[in-house]
Order: sequence, then C-alpha cells, then structure tokens
Amino acid sequence: MLGFDQDLAKVDSINKGQSCLSHINDSIIESHITSKRLSATADMRRLNEPDVILICVPTPTTADQNPNLSYLIDAIKHIANNLRPGQLICLESTPYPGATDELLLPSLQTKEITVGRDFFLAFSPEREDPGNTQYKISSIPKIVSGTTRECLKIVENLYSGVFDKVFPVSSTQTAECTKLIENIYRHVNISFVNELKQILSRMEVDIWEVLEAASTKPFGFHRFSPGPGIGGHCIPNNPIYFSWKAKQLGMNSQIIDSALSVEKSMAGFVYETAKRALTKQKKKLANSRILILGVTYKPNVQDTRESPALPIINLLQENGATVEYSDPYVPILQSSELKTGEMHSVPLTEKDLAIADLVMLITDHSSFPYKLIHEHSALIIDTRNVFRRNNFIGDHVIQA
Ligand SMILES: NC(=O)c1ccc[n+]([C@@H]2O[C@H](COP(=O)([O-])OP(=O)(O)OC[C@H]3O[C@@H](n4cnc5c(N)ncnc54)[C@H](O)[C@@H]3O)[C@@H](O)[C@H]2O)c1
Repeated sequence: MLGFDQDLAKVDSINKGQSCLSHINDSIIESHITSKRLSATADMRRLNEPDVILICVPTPTTADQNPNLSYLIDAIKHIANNLRPGQLICLESTPYPGATDELLLPSLQTKEITVGRDFFLAFSPEREDPGNTQYKISSIPKIVSGTTRECLKIVENLYSGVFDKVFPVSSTQTAECTKLIENIYRHVNISFVNELKQILSRMEVDIWEVLEAASTKPFGFHRFSPGPGIGGHCIPNNPIYFSWKAKQLGMNSQIIDSALSVEKSMAGFVYETAKRALTKQKKKLANSRILILGVTYKPNVQDTRESPALPIINLLQENGATVEYSDPYVPILQSSELKTGEMHSVPLTEKDLAIADLVMLITDHSSFPYKLIHEHSALIIDTRNVFRRNNFIGDHVIQA
C-alpha cells in the first residue's frame, strides 16, 4: 500500500510508523511499515505505481455555503497527469450527486483513453464512524458503483476480498445519493431533537426524559440525541452538497434548509441558557470566567472540524467572558472558525474548576472526571445530559 498526502507531516509520521488518528493505534501502522506493506509519499508523480487509487480527500464547504471541490479537483489533476493503462480510480470522498461522472470522468478520459477499457472509474463511499468500536470496518456493508459495467465488476471484485458484504448499485449517482441520504437523515433528525430541546426547555420539560420514554416503543421510533450542535467534517456539510445540486435543478429542499437553520441557532441557545443561569447567581456573563469542557465535535476523538464548541466560544468571548477550555484530545485549539485565534487546553484540577464562574460541558469525553467536576464547580451547563445520566444532580447543574 502506498499512501499519498500533500501534508508532509502526515507522510513523515506514517513512514515512522506513527498513526495520524487518535482512534488508530501506532502499533497497526508500525507493523505495516516494518513488514514493508505500507509507505507514504507526497510525490504525486508516483501515482502511476498503484493498480488501484482510492481518493479520500476532504470535501468541505466554502464560507458562502457551497461545495468546496478544490481538493478533489487538485487530486484528480495529479491522477490524470500520471494515469497509466489498467488503473482503477475509486472515489471514496463524499461528493455532490453526479460528481464522479460529471467532474472526474472528463478530467481522466480523452479521445485516446476510454473509461471501462483503458482505465476504470468507480465510486464507493467511506462508511466510517471514528471512535465507534462496535463495528469492524470489514463488517460494514460496502456500497459500490462504476461508471461502466466493467468498472463496477472490477470495484466489486476488489472489495469482495475485503468486506463481508458488498452492495452494488446501478450508477455512481445512485451511490452518491445513498451516501448523502445516510448523512442527511442524521442531520435532519439531530436538528429535530435539537429544536425540540429548545422548545421543551421553554415548557420546562426535560427532553432527555421524553426521549427515554419514547424509546420504549418497540417500533416506529428511532432515538437521536440532542446536543450543543452538529459538528465534524461530514454531517454539517453533506446536506449542503445535496441541496446545492438540487438548486442547480431548480429545486429546493425545505427540510434540509430548516435543519441547517436550526443548527445555526444552537450556539445562541447554549449562550442564552448560560447567561440566564449566571444572572440567577447574580453574576454578569461579561465579567465571568468560563471553562469549556471538550472542544471536539464528538467524544473520544481529536477532530475539532465544525465543532459546536467553536461558535459557542466565539459568542462568549464577543460578549466579554473570559473563556478557557480543557480537552485531553486537543492540547492546542487552532481553527479558522475561532475568531480570537489559537487557544491552549488547561488542566482539569479542583482549583481550575473552583475559580470558574461557569463550567460548560460541550463534549462528553469518557475520561473526564465527572464526580470531581460536579463537586468543585459553582455552576455547570450540561449540553449532553451526562451529569443527570450519572446521577450527579443539584441546583447548580443546568441542562442546555
Ligand atoms: N472522517 C470520517 O469519518 C468520514 C466518514 C465518511 C466519509 N468521509 C469522507 O471522506 C473524505 C475525507 O474525509 P477525512 O475526514 O478523512 O478528511 P481528512 O482531512 O482527515 O483527510 C484528508 C487528507 O487528504 C489530504 N489531501 C487533501 N488534498 C489532497 C490532495 N490533492 N492530494 C493528496 N492529499 C490531499 C489532506 O492533507 C488530509 O490528510 C470526505 O469527503 C469526507 O466527507 C469521512
């Protein structure tokens, strides 16, 4: 296996046998490097060496909420420049519906070089849930699709040797829609419970108790967990890719638009709840010292992309609060989304907790000492229901 990345630090780390991801152990990478089954390079001229190229580059969105296809365009340019007969190019990144055939194919195919004969083009979406140890990758069914019947046959053969179940679909566009719909389903449903959380909080009804009760129904109800907002590279961006394509066809997804707008309101909801809780303790948010617990988009990973912590920190700082954070996975928080620049994680000690006017739980990492936090904090805003769930209750614990 030959890994390509333009990030030299990642290439270097892989070649030293070190993992770049917190949920993949160094020992796995090290054993592949030692047995010479894996190496990494930033030299894109070597793209003519592999028989199969899997494209896993980012597919984020632009500031004006459109697909940012620059990484994909750059990767495909390098592949086209080094294409050799017989190669299978398989896109695994999440694109807009139609991208494999509309964007990738014209960059690779020429008058002389034909898809399905001289090279093969496929789309097979990544179905990864970082940090989830319940499923082995090989046990997650793999959707495969090809630009031609030959392309489909080849990608199906490839993945049949790796995955327990391979599920072929009739076109790359069908597979692209399948991937998007999986993630849009999550986005819309999480937004739904996040909106309910805001409304039920005004009714003084506990959303988590409602969801626990509703989950006892053995059919027709699937539980989603509310939180401080949706984050990560995929779930916030994928609906934008889908609705961008729909808009090109003169269509509009009202459900997606509403879900995106609920998510935008989440930082404000958490902020307002914090402000009210401080006022009740006769404190002003503007002069308060606030400690954020967890800045990653979900527990037990190091990924801070699109984390809900970022707009919440921005709002608190803009309104005059002194904000610090503690996160064992993120010693330094750097993000273009953070308005005041880089921040450094502080230790989680009795003293740090005691001097904070407010402790705000954003990401429920399992390693956080919840009992200690509960005992030494003057006021806690809990966006994940982790304190109540663990029976750490009291007037100083507020749900948000
Ligand atoms: N992270 C997930 O859990 C997950 C799950 C399912 C699907 N996906 C999809 O997979 C894709 C990648 O996501 P990710 O989270 O792994 O991204 P990532 O940012 O963690 O990794 C992408 C890598 O691609 C490299 N890169 C960027 N442009 C390149 C280029 N032109 N040539 C070579 N390398 C380049 C970057 O340096 C980076 O190391 C996205 O489309 C995402 O939606 C991700």
